[in-house]
Amino acid sequence: MLSVVVLISGTGSNLLALLKAADHPLYPVRILAVGSDRAAEGLAHADLYGVPSFVVERGRFSDVETWSAKLQETIEHFNPDLVVLAGFMRILPPSFVSRFSPNLINIHPSLLPLFPGAHAVRDALAAGARETGVTIHVVDKGVDTGPVIAQRTVTVMPADDQASLHERIKFQEHELLVETVLSIAEKRTELVGR
Ligand code: GAR
Repeated sequence: MLSVVVLISGTGSNLLALLKAADHPLYPVRILAVGSDRAAEGLAHADLYGVPSFVVERGRFSDVETWSAKLQETIEHFNPDLVVLAGFMRILPPSFVSRFSPNLINIHPSLLPLFPGAHAVRDALAAGARETGVTIHVVDKGVDTGPVIAQRTVTVMPADDQASLHERIKFQEHELLVETVLSIAEKRTELVGR
């Protein structure tokens, strides 16, 4: 059984996909807790599944290091095998990354190395990309630069706006995240850092 802490900042649709999968007795993953940097909407999914949640608000700490040390300590309390960033929209400092990586993965809405950063869907549209997609990668000390574990392509339609494209990307994200975490649990995917 692979034990997981999931970190989110927003609606938590990827979290929900993972909670649903983990609810099945044959899916060898246990979600120990869900954390956020804010009172995120998606924390309600954790409540629904009886999973504990916690918020470590960035604004309550004077600097990134003290904030991330508190986040780290809270995660350590659960002692997970894996930490999943599922729409966690803050950059984590090297001290945090060193503590958990390579057992720290992120899902990102583009085919990295294309369109890193917080606005990947908008940037792909603005660049006139014909296709974009989803990447799951090990988090390293850069922004969206860690070793790629899995990717899926999504075609950009001529009529797409940011919302429609992101919705189709998220559909693929949900499947890819559930598959990838299963593959890690079954040791078919080995997490390797840089
Ligand atoms: C997802 O599309 C995820 O890939 C993206 O935020 C969204 C969260 O959606 N993450 C990033 O952009 C990280 N750079 P969700 O809250 O519904 O799962």
